Amino acid sequence: MSWWQDAVCYELYPRAFADSDGDGTGDLAGATARLDHIAGLGADAVWITPFYPSPLADGGYDIADHTGVAADLGSPQDFDELTARAHRLGLKLIVDLVPNHTSDQHPWFQEALAAGPGSAARDRYLFRPGRGPAGELPPNDWQSAFGGPAWTRVPDGQWYCHLHAAEQPDLNWRSPEVRQAFTGILTHWLDRGVDGFRVDVAHALFKAEGLPDAGPGQHRDPLRNHLMPYYDQEELHPLYREWRTLLDTHPAPPGAVAPHERVMVAESAVFDPTRLARYTRPDEMHQAFNFAFLEAAWEPGELRRVIDASLCAPGGGAVTWLLSSHDAVRPVTRLGSAARARAAALLMLALPGSAYLYQGEELGLPQARIPDDRILDPLWERSGHTERGRDGSRVPLPWSGDRAPYGFTTADPDRTWLPQPDDWAPHTVAAQEHDPHSTLTLYREALRLRRDHPASDPTAPPHWHSAPGDPYLAFRRSGLTCVVNLADRPLSWTTLGVTGRPVLASGPLDGDAIPPDTAVWLLDTTPEPQSLEVQSLEVQSPEGDGHGRAH
Ligand code: NOJ
Repeated sequence: MSWWQDAVCYELYPRAFADSDGDGTGDLAGATARLDHIAGLGADAVWITPFYPSPLADGGYDIADHTGVAADLGSPQDFDELTARAHRLGLKLIVDLVPNHTSDQHPWFQEALAAGPGSAARDRYLFRPGRGPAGELPPNDWQSAFGGPAWTRVPDGQWYCHLHAAEQPDLNWRSPEVRQAFTGILTHWLDRGVDGFRVDVAHALFKAEGLPDAGPGQHRDPLRNHLMPYYDQEELHPLYREWRTLLDTHPAPPGAVAPHERVMVAESAVFDPTRLARYTRPDEMHQAFNFAFLEAAWEPGELRRVIDASLCAPGGGAVTWLLSSHDAVRPVTRLGSAARARAAALLMLALPGSAYLYQGEELGLPQARIPDDRILDPLWERSGHTERGRDGSRVPLPWSGDRAPYGFTTADPDRTWLPQPDDWAPHTVAAQEHDPHSTLTLYREALRLRRDHPASDPTAPPHWHSAPGDPYLAFRRSGLTCVVNLADRPLSWTTLGVTGRPVLASGPLDGDAIPPDTAVWLLDTTPEPQSLEVQSLEVQSPEGDGHGRAH
């Protein structure tokens, strides 16, 4: 079995993780200094979101130099130290590859603007004349995922395509020069020793020939995403096969521990499971994010449907699970309570495959409300101030202390990368570290059990004990049974016919009664290690406000 098939990968958003130089923004040296938190949690890998030079029009996903390091985050040497430290701690390191677009400040785009219509420089992007008598209308009806048209006009009258912010012009993936440049970018980071790539907007690189209209209802029904002319085009797959060969054949860096298998994970907003599975065929990507699980409501029927569909989807890759990311409303808030977020974590971590955790999830952080004048997300402006965007899940982590900046930085609290709430003292790592009832302890215990106990065999499929329509979920894998009570009254596992000894629970149990919105893991194997004791964990955080995903 390969390391990534059951890996727990921790998403690190560097500007909000830890600040080493007191400027209020997290950086690479800060991340290196705090990597032991991730290793101590029991994760196997770290995915670090973009740390490249960027004007920050979209949190760093607008890249001006794909092989550089942003000055506010450190230097290439700092990146090497982060990689070396991760490897010393036994953590793999995955970096973000953002091939769909560049920053408008990228030298290529600046060159394209200067060179004018018909130039080779413009051919690296998607420049087109407009429609209407004077070309005053966009070339087609495409809408940006952030709201508004996916086209912006330049002074000479041409329009360029951007599926996200106007500061993120889309590349022309039919340009051989673009393709070749990205081979160089992948090679650069492989040479620096990374263990893989998370491929941003992996479903969008190629647009249908002729750029036809998409029609009404764009971005409204994710299940139709693969039908859009700007998504899920056939030409993606030969490209991913090419990259897979590069990953498989690129020499391992000196001193790498064999087997040195590098991975690609697709960030693909394709929700049809059969279409999504095409990204993870055996010679393409290793994994694709399972957004259907992240988006599922706290409802047993829907969760069961999503889990079954995810496990059944064809394709060679392992299943992934995630409850949060820097793009999503934090689960405590999205699912409606800290109790549900904790139960959802035990559900996710009992499933076979790989899990992605997002920084702060292990602390039970709720979504923060960002004051209007501090919002950074381009969604806020592009939606005409109707969508606050994703900043509420990108607030600096609370490490210690009883007031902001909670050990994140030595800067004044009003200078932190996004402001931290006043009531986060109970959420700090220091406050939760030795508390047996904390969310941090729950995650550590879950990851330890998952890793150490034979019942955690990642290839063992779940056998459902609950039936579709039951107000609870119960399944067994090897000797481990996971029961999640989604009903509004307690549920006795003995009455359900579930056997085993409880080894971990997301909330306090009352004998064999599982309270509402609580999950329990039961072991039915012998001998049982002495350390596998029940963690009767109290729920700490206040109820959230139950909002859905940020975009
Ligand atoms: C997905 C990234 O996760 C998100 O943060 C970003 O805004 C878009 N891709 C565009 O790069």
